[in-house]
Amino acid sequence: KRLLLLNGPNLNRLGQREPDTYGTETLADVINKVKAVTDEYQYELEHFQSNHEGELIDKLHETEGEVSGIVFNPAAYTHTSVALRDAIASITAPVIEVHISNVHQREEFRHHSMLAPVCEGQIVGFGTDGYRLAALGLLKKL
Ligand code: DQA
Repeated sequence: KRLLLLNGPNLNRLGQREPDTYGTETLADVINKVKAVTDEYQYELEHFQSNHEGELIDKLHETEGEVSGIVFNPAAYTHTSVALRDAIASITAPVIEVHISNVHQREEFRHHSMLAPVCEGQIVGFGTDGYRLAALGLLKKL
């Protein structure tokens, strides 16, 4: 039993990147927090981060038959990527979309998600804690 934590572009810079918006925790801190949740439910945690759209698509395809659920922060691709939306629609594992910031309080171009209609759920505005909350919600459903 395995859960995938997937992170899109610029999230490798978490902790240093715009700390007023995204906080001071690093991606390693986030992985540890989610791992505490998956450990509790006796799930393995796999993590993958990429700044490249095609690599994220490949990873989504590879989950087929391997992963029970996906916690995904698609970052800026949320607002632009038809290709990621089609990739999510093509797989069977449920995806929870996570945003650290409250995208609805920010620029207009961040208000719309291309991916939300093909995701099982969405968590926005709870900081890096959102990842943990998404994992918890997903594992309770599985
Ligand atoms: C983000 C919000 C996106 O609009 C932005 O492009 C990001 C991070 C978030 O976690 O709040 O890179 O997904």
